[in-house]
Parts: sequence; C-alpha cells; structure tokens
Amino acid sequence: MCKYCRTFAQKFNDMKHFFLLLLASVLLGCSSRQQISSPDETIRLCFRMAHGGCPQYQVCQDGQVIIDWSALGLVCDEVDLSSGLRVVDCTKSNYSDEWQTVWGEERLIRDVHSEMEVQMIHRSGMAMTISFRVFNDGVAFRYNLPVTESTQSKTLTVTDEVSEYRFTADHEVWSLPWRTEYYEGIWTKSPLSQKNDTLCSPLTFELTNGSYAFIHEAALKDYPAQNLYVSEGSVRTYLTPWLDSNAKPLPAKAYLTLPATTPWRMVILAKTLPELVASRIMLNLNEPCAIKDTSWIKPMKFIGIWWGMHMKSMTWEAGPKHGATTENMKRYLLFAKSHHIEAVLAEGWNLGWETWEHFDFTTPYPDWDMDYLSSLAQDLGVEIVGHNETGGNAAEYEKDLDTIYRYHAKHGIHAIKTGYVSPFIRTMDGLQWNKGQSGVRHYRHVIETAAKYHIMIDNHEPVMPTGLQRTYPNLMTQEGVRGQEWNAWSADGGSPCSHVTILPFTRILAGPVDYTPGVFAFENPVLPKTRVHSTLMNQLGLMVCLYSPLQMACDLPENYMKHPDAFRFIEHVPCDWERSLLVDGKIGEFCIFARQQRGSANWYIGGINNEDVRVVAVPLSFLNGQTQSSEQKYKATLYQDGEKADWKTNPYDFTIEEQSVTCADTLFIRLASGGGFAAEIIPITE
Ligand code: NOJ
Ligand code: CA
Repeated sequence: MCKYCRTFAQKFNDMKHFFLLLLASVLLGCSSRQQISSPDETIRLCFRMAHGGCPQYQVCQDGQVIIDWSALGLVCDEVDLSSGLRVVDCTKSNYSDEWQTVWGEERLIRDVHSEMEVQMIHRSGMAMTISFRVFNDGVAFRYNLPVTESTQSKTLTVTDEVSEYRFTADHEVWSLPWRTEYYEGIWTKSPLSQKNDTLCSPLTFELTNGSYAFIHEAALKDYPAQNLYVSEGSVRTYLTPWLDSNAKPLPAKAYLTLPATTPWRMVILAKTLPELVASRIMLNLNEPCAIKDTSWIKPMKFIGIWWGMHMKSMTWEAGPKHGATTENMKRYLLFAKSHHIEAVLAEGWNLGWETWEHFDFTTPYPDWDMDYLSSLAQDLGVEIVGHNETGGNAAEYEKDLDTIYRYHAKHGIHAIKTGYVSPFIRTMDGLQWNKGQSGVRHYRHVIETAAKYHIMIDNHEPVMPTGLQRTYPNLMTQEGVRGQEWNAWSADGGSPCSHVTILPFTRILAGPVDYTPGVFAFENPVLPKTRVHSTLMNQLGLMVCLYSPLQMACDLPENYMKHPDAFRFIEHVPCDWERSLLVDGKIGEFCIFARQQRGSANWYIGGINNEDVRVVAVPLSFLNGQTQSSEQKYKATLYQDGEKADWKTNPYDFTIEEQSVTCADTLFIRLASGGGFAAEIIPITE
C-alpha cells in the first residue's frame, strides 16, 4: 500500500472508531449532563458539556452554588482537549474504606466517596476520561488519557491545563506569590479580586458565608506543580513551565507518554476550621503504600549541629568554627541519649561547602570521623540524620544516588535531610524550576531510591507536598516554608508572631513541615534587630501545632540546659499520633491543637498566639475517647506564659504546674503577646 493509501486507511479507521463511539453514545442515551453527590448528600458536583464540546463542572454545598460552571480540559500541541469533545459513557460508583497510616496525625483514615468517570471522545478521535470524586468534605477531579485504536500520538506536550474554579463571591484568600523562592514567604490574605499575581498552590479561602475552602493538588508524580491565578473573578490553573537552555520559560508544561493520568485537582469544603484541618482528602487521593516492609520507617525527634551555623557561631565549612567535628557530634549524641531525643542531624560534615557547587556526599572533612561516630551512635542507640545539600545540583546528586545512599546505609544512617539551595535546580534536563516536571521527577526518584536503602527523607527546598507520603512513607517531612532559620538572619527582623498561626491552615494542610521549632535563647549577637518573635512557651506550643514526623528541636544543648524544666516537654512530646484535632483557632491569630500519642492514652496540647494577648478556653472533652471512662483522672502538666511574658520584653517568663483533670474540665489559659502554651496529659493509674 502506498504512503497516501496508508494514511487514508488510518484516517478511515480513526473516523470509523470515532463514529462507532458516537453511535454508541447516542444509542445508549448517555447524557452529557451528569451529577453525583457526596455520601452524606451535602455536596453535589454537576458535569455538563457546554457549547463547542467544552466540559464544565459545578459544585454546590447545602444547595448553595460554591463553584459555578467552570472549565475543564488540557491543551496540548497535538490536540486541544478543552473543546470539541463529546461524552460517550459515564459510570458512577461508591467507595468506602478505612486504612492505616504508617505514621501521621491519625492512625486510621476513612475514605468514603462517590465517583464518576466521564468518558469523552475528541473530534480528532482522541479519548479522554475525567474522573470526579465527591467526599463529604470536598471534591476532586483528574484527567486520564488512555491509548485507544484511534490514538494518533502516544506522546503529548501539554501547553495548558484549563481547570478552573469559578467562585460565586469575592472571598478572602490566603496565598503566596508563585515565584516565592522555595515557598519561603509570609502568607497574606486579601479578597480574590485583589490577587493580581499568579499564586502558589495551595490557596486557603475564608468564604463570605463563614465557611472555608482549600484548593490544592494530590499525587503529583510526573507533571509540573500547579500554580493558580485570578482572571475575571475565577481561579485558573497555570502549570509550571519547562525552561530552555537560557532558563527562559517554554510553552511546554508537561511531556506525557500515554496512557497518562494527571494529578488530582482538589477542593476541600469545610464549615469550620477544625473540619478543615481534619480533612484527609489529599491522602485519600494518593495511591496506597508502595513499600512492602515499612518497619524501618520511624518518626523521630532530633536535635542537630545546625542553629549555630544560622546564628553564625559555627560554620558549615572546615575551619576554626567548624560545627560538624567529631568532638561536637559526640557531645550532641551524648546529650540526645541522656534526654531521650532519638536522633542528631549534622550539617557541614562533608566536602564541598567552600563553593556550594560540587558537594561530595561520601567524603567527610578530616575532622569528622564517620566510622567512629556511626559506631558511637549505634552503641548509644541514637540515630544520625545525614545531610545532603546539593546546592541545586540535582543532576550530580542523582547520578551518584545509589553510591551515596549505600554509603549512608553502611554507616547506619536511616534518615537524610536533602537541600537544593539555588533559584533554579540543575536537573538531568538542564536548569529547571524545582516545581517543574523535571524537578518533580527528581524528587520522586530520590524518594524511591532512598526507600531501597531504608532511608527516610526530609526534603528542604522541595516542591510543595501533595500527599505522596501515603505511597512513599519514607518521605517524612519537607521544608517549603519560611522556617525558623529566617529568625536568625533575615534582614526584615524575623517573621511576625502571626506567621506560625497561619501555617497550620495553609502550608501544613499540604503536608508535614520541617519548620524547626524549639528556640530557647532569644538574643541574636550577630543581628540584634533580628530575632524569634516568640516567648519560650510559644516554642513549646509549636512542637505540637506544626506537625512533622521528623520534628527538630533546633536550639543548642547549652541553651536547653538553661531551662531544663521547660525542656522536659520537648523530651516527652512525641511526633506520631493516634488522633489529632484543632481545639480552637483563627487563621493569623491563634491556634490550639490536641493530639493523642500513637498507641498510648497520653495527650499533648499546644497553643500559639499572635501579638494580641488573649485568654483561651480548652475544654478537655476530647479525653473522653473510646477506651477511657468519663471518670478517668489525668495528671496535666501545664507549661504557660508567666504574667510578665511578652515576646519583645520578656520571652523567658513562664510557669509550670501540675493539676488533676478529667474530660469534664476546661482549662483557661492566658496567651502572652507572641506567647503560647503546652500541656502533657497522662492517665492516672491507681
Ligand atoms: C537551607 C536549609 O533550609 C537549611 O536548613 C540548611 O541549613 C541550609 N540550607 C544549608 O543546607
Ligand atoms: Ca530553606
């Protein structure tokens, strides 16, 4: 057959397939208007095919339209899958399950949702299915691109995703500008109509009806991270682009090989803040655990040779003030051992810190005796948290990954903090944004390779988390936040007190955060005008409020020993939970979390405050769980701001007292300016 005949035959085949599907859709009476409701019927999602074959959806809660008809689809170089589509089939199903987390804010998670798969065919013959899920607390959708007989191209270059969220009112939104380096910025709130910049995902909405919404993505694996922008009152998607060899954005956003599935787009809808933080939609949208034996994955608290570098009393590179020396590490390991801290981080132990260009991850500085320290750590039963700063040179890191992880595993190191300090990262594809498709692939490759060597990852300068820790629970925690380090050296004087009271409702809804709480000394000899805007009790409260399964207590041992009584809370507080709940809070003002230790009846409460002094009520009704009777008595140890406490004038004023409580009691606690509190509540056994 000649070339032209072959092309004609192929086209004829495609058209035949297309018309057969069309015929089927007409005969089966598949309507292009469909809907599903959440299992409790409070949320309804409707789908329609608008004029021109443009798919759209609408979301209502309690009969009120929250997201009005909004666009769906993908635009690719090869085919525009946002119009010219027709519905050929639609299936609906219900799902109900409960699964156990390897670690987390909760041991058991319920996944109850309705699902609808709308199969479509494009006029070119290309097939696309949009999956929708509706939970009692939100909705999600994603695009599936199968390979069918009529698929013309098995690779697609996505240039735009048109997913849209057309809110029906001018709600207040908490956000970060999309180019905020490593997401290390202060979240700000303003009405949607005033958000002029493109924004990072996620976004947290305070709706005009008093409830809350949260837009983010789940299961980001081989696709660029989404960003969002406001246009004509609606929130639209902007995918992080690929960059050319001059680091200029290309039209290409994602290269897909079919069959392909995009990450989930999700919107949490919650009537109250406690409901918002209790939503587990993002984890439910990720695939179940891909690691068979997870016994080596263990949440841990750690201290580290770290704060000294940021406060400039130590250096990463070798020299007179070198931090990661054998002597110093030995001191930290012994301190950790005697204070029940599971692990010690050491930064600056390896060659390369002079230039930050080519780090060597298997050669220590001469004053670091890896063999001695690793056997000392193992004798003491204290873990070493390794540190791999790449300076953004992801390609070099990736090339040697197996060798690097083999070296760490050989020295008994089961956790590594990775770092990518550089405005762009150098991946196998050249200079790219870390949240572009190439960066996303790199981070995932790191997690998968680390799992082979039983290594847990704490990823600094990451791509915003999307719940991947369900599938790869060795991805423990990530930075992606303006963390404590900014309070050491930021020229703006340090983060305002309100900063940490915003994070649990914005950044941390996307996943665990390595914020590094626990400062006990507030003087900054290098930058006297820069400091931690917090009382000492606030630092204890952070240990509970800012969730991380690898939780760092960041200050120096000598500073902890200035307040051994307050340090006791850090010694005791765990970082893996049976249950967690927000007792009370207001975004940017204060928050109080209560968490039950995993596998135990002990509870820990943390509270943090902005600048405004306030008294908060903490009803202890949550103690009335399934396993305890309502008469059960508990010993509550309360760590509170003293009467004179104030972050600026007197951060060290605090009281510690014990009292006996039951679930019928309510604690009334005064929070100082920049203050906080913490409590340990333990059942009294007669
Ligand atoms: C930035 C990280 O966030 C910080 O924790 C680390 O100390 C430095 N990079 C050096 O790697
Ligand atoms: Ca950082």
